[in-house]
Amino acid sequence: MRKILVIGSGGREHALAWKLSQSSEVSQIFVAPGNIGMPESWMRWPLPSRENFGEMASRARNENIDLAVIGPDQLLAEGLSDALMAEGVLVFGPTAAAARIESSKSFAKDVMKAVGVSTAKSWVAASPEEARKILRSVPWEKGGGPKRGWVVKVDGLALGKGVRVCEGLDQGLEAVSSLTSLGSAGIFVIEERLFGQELSWMAFCDGERCALLQPARDYKRLLDRDQGPNTGGMGSFSPVPGIPDSWAGRVREQIFLPVLQEMNRRGCPFRGLLYAGLMVDLAADRIWVLEFNARFGDPETQVLMPRIEGDLYPWLVAVAQGDLSSFPEKVPFQSEAAVVVIAASGGYPDSPRVGKKIQISGAPQIFCAGVQLDPAVGNPPGWVTSGGRVLGALGTGLGLDHARREAYRNLSQIQFEEMQWRSDIAL
Ligand code: AMP
Ligand code: GLY
Repeated sequence: MRKILVIGSGGREHALAWKLSQSSEVSQIFVAPGNIGMPESWMRWPLPSRENFGEMASRARNENIDLAVIGPDQLLAEGLSDALMAEGVLVFGPTAAAARIESSKSFAKDVMKAVGVSTAKSWVAASPEEARKILRSVPWEKGGGPKRGWVVKVDGLALGKGVRVCEGLDQGLEAVSSLTSLGSAGIFVIEERLFGQELSWMAFCDGERCALLQPARDYKRLLDRDQGPNTGGMGSFSPVPGIPDSWAGRVREQIFLPVLQEMNRRGCPFRGLLYAGLMVDLAADRIWVLEFNARFGDPETQVLMPRIEGDLYPWLVAVAQGDLSSFPEKVPFQSEAAVVVIAASGGYPDSPRVGKKIQISGAPQIFCAGVQLDPAVGNPPGWVTSGGRVLGALGTGLGLDHARREAYRNLSQIQFEEMQWRSDIAL
């Protein structure tokens, strides 16, 4: 029987560990640090930080962890996989070199261009001045039609705050100024603005081969009807109606496989979960890649895990071992739909107000994230908010309508001061 270590504390890690806990092969779950919504029987380790990756790796080896699964992008970019692998621990999650496909937008663009993946036109600027120069000189700025615009991005990881979608030159220039303070190395990527529907499509990748999960939709804006600032994600659903069956093959052949081949060629094979953030135009039958992430999406994982058919553990092991050759090209999914609605703190995403007492009635299906135990506040349950995204209320059922009703019914059993949520998820 196997011991699994899941690293991270969000709804994504809760959903992953929950799914892995159903595996007939897994006997013990360790979480680092996990969250308060997880069963008490799961062992708790501290969240590793860059300075003590080595310590966590020795601990994992000494504990005979059979598989470590890394959730957060930051830890991947900082090389936690590399540290665990150096101690001989089997890891689901790419090396820091391969995680650059997420941690550097200019690197991702370069990889896509090298293999002709369809993506927005882009320019890389090494300074704010250069970014402004590009904005002033691009041809579609002058007299561009209503559908023109820019997206200004900082090159490094920025907790979802490093992207500004802009309508005109003034907004573009302002975005460069406001992002200047965030830019890790002062490098910007400026893109042509694309229009359509966004789709999160993920695949298990073993460095060479891939197996596609079903796509999910994510809601990035804070408020209903896609208003308000960008967030980490306010809700999600799967399956996504209207996506032609033929698209899975297309996404595989034209996006995932060429990118894997190019990563290999560059000496940084990608083993883990590769997430393609797509913009799609169903009427025009077009697909563009907006970005890649080197990890499971959150909250998408909260709707994908309940839908995956069968045991997740063998998939993750095969990916970590670099051999998906005996697995199908598509991960099997149940036909049931799933919807998750995020309950976020007041002030999220800019400055979430925490420490609010959470009241839960009944036993709604939830995945926790920013929740802590505060013995000073009430009992039971003594839970208080401790982050921006507090928890996800899950609904499953035959058809999205059913799943949505369930998710909102679960959400209605949760209350805390200043709770924010969207009321249009999966509508
Ligand atoms: P990214 O971190 O690159 O995925 O960008 C975050 C969000 O900004 C995306 O989910 C989109 O909503 C939006 N976005 C990014 N690039 C573009 C683009 N080229 N055109 C339109 N919207 C974009
Ligand atoms: N939900 C978007 C992300 O995980 O990046």
